[in-house]
Amino acid sequence: MNDRVAIRVERLSKEFTFGGQRVQALREVSFSVETGTMVSVVGPSGSGKTTLVNVLGGLDSPTAGEVWVEGRPIHVLREADLTEFRRRRVGFVFQAYNLIPGFSALENVGLPLEFDGTPRRRREERARECLELVGLPPSRHRHTAARLSGGEQQRVAVARALANDPAFILADEPTGNLDSANSDIIVNLLASLAREQGKTVVMVTHDRSLAARAERVFEMVDGRIL
Ligand SMILES: Nc1ncnc2c1ncn2[C@@H]1O[C@H](COP(=O)(O)OP(=O)(O)OP(=O)(O)O)[C@@H](O)[C@H]1O
Ligand SMILES: [Mg+2]
Repeated sequence: MNDRVAIRVERLSKEFTFGGQRVQALREVSFSVETGTMVSVVGPSGSGKTTLVNVLGGLDSPTAGEVWVEGRPIHVLREADLTEFRRRRVGFVFQAYNLIPGFSALENVGLPLEFDGTPRRRREERARECLELVGLPPSRHRHTAARLSGGEQQRVAVARALANDPAFILADEPTGNLDSANSDIIVNLLASLAREQGKTVVMVTHDRSLAARAERVFEMVDGRIL
């Protein structure tokens, strides 16, 4: 395989069964993404965008098809190896943030580093750097997540995704709660991480003009990429 290829997806399908109903969230999707590229994913609500990023990052397993990341077959990894892969290689920005409400902004961002034994001071230093990158004012760094506004929480969620310096950033609507100035900060940041640091970024967004900032735009409709 070409080692410029960061992500390769072959006939990827995901079906959910819930309350006796079956939903085909992804229908035989195939594509590849080169290392150091930012792609955006757009499409109507329910078209499969979150499902796609979750499967790419090993948070959810496909029903059929293959996901290769850096030449590794993610679709066949066992849970322990998937956890390791996510921890070392992937930064997630969740659509619903998934912050720990009682933890401060600094503690939330530093949390991924706690798992690999980074000392407390270094964690805090790195968390502060990441919060600066996303434009969260220092006066907010010690506030608990529960006391931050929606947009502030969203920026903390982006900062947390950067903490372990991941090769892959999977960002699900990272600007959904931000005004246009702060959306620009985040999208510029993601684009520069791809361009200058060779990170591979997948960004889901409803905003067409932000989507257009990526090198490629994937249009999803009903579980397919057009
Ligand atoms: N855990 C689940 N169980 C059952 N159905 C699910 C589950 N997760 C997603 N789905 C269904 O799969 C389809 C795709 O959902 P997905 O969350 O990927 O959409 P989306 O494009 O991210 O939408 P949005 O823009 O609203 O975030 C939807 O029909 C959804 O109801
Ligand atoms: Mg979604």
